[in-house]
Amino acid sequence: MLKLEEVGAAYGISPVLTAIRLEIAEGEAVALLGRNGVGKTTLLRTIAGLHPMTAGRLTFEDRDITMMPAYKRARHGIALVPQGRGIFPHLTVEQNLLLGFSAVSESISGAKNEIPAYVFEMFPALTRLRARKGGVLSGGEQQQLAIGRALVAQPRLMLLDEPTEGIQPSIVKEIGEALNRIRRDMKIAILLVEQYLQFAWTISDRYYVMQRGRIVKSGDTRVQSPDAIAHLMSV
Ligand SMILES: Nc1ncnc2c1ncn2[C@@H]1O[C@H](COP(=O)(O)OP(=O)(O)OP(=O)(O)O)[C@@H](O)[C@H]1O
Ligand SMILES: [Mg+2]
Repeated sequence: MLKLEEVGAAYGISPVLTAIRLEIAEGEAVALLGRNGVGKTTLLRTIAGLHPMTAGRLTFEDRDITMMPAYKRARHGIALVPQGRGIFPHLTVEQNLLLGFSAVSESISGAKNEIPAYVFEMFPALTRLRARKGGVLSGGEQQQLAIGRALVAQPRLMLLDEPTEGIQPSIVKEIGEALNRIRRDMKIAILLVEQYLQFAWTISDRYYVMQRGRIVKSGDTRVQSPDAIAHLMSV
């Protein structure tokens, strides 16, 4: 459903991504791994249309989206759950969730829309926190809110940027279960950026490893163990 061919990106004149080839099949879960600063966030932002490509081609569901602006990519079903979660601290949980509709409709507030019940089923804690300001939530609650907000738009592909970063183990487990349901029950494909390999292995079918803006290895998580690539995570 998603295909990157020789994709390049840069910050000014410094290349950050070079000749990236990556594919995700319908409903598949894929992990994108690599140490700090190798370009994982830039790659997700490039797929979402938030960072310009300097080379290559991007195809989504048989359509060339290389030149398509971010808001249209969102309407076609690409959702990004950003690193650091991107919660609006002064808006309530409910208002943050309603903003998920702005990805798919003309209305910015989403005020006429109802938050789908599956969001609260997936993350029961959000029901209790509905009227609370986003900024007072714990890291784990904010992460659940960020994933819930992306789900509101009923995406076909969800890009998640280090959802376990700075989150306590019990919530990491809940987020893992939610991602598996998103994938299995809602048939949403997942591209997961992670540094925590054990977690990546519980979610994904395949993996790619990046070093300095390039994909240096890819493989099947059902066949290989995380040990096979741990040494690549320190370069
Ligand atoms: N706005 C920017 N301007 C210039 N350089 C940037 C900018 N954002 C990121 N970079 C550089 O681009 C490279 C890739 O950054 P990116 O954030 O994509 O890495 P990452 O793999 O997501 O890292 P992390 O694991 O720390 O989140 C890094 O060397 C970083 O310093
Ligand atoms: Mg990053």
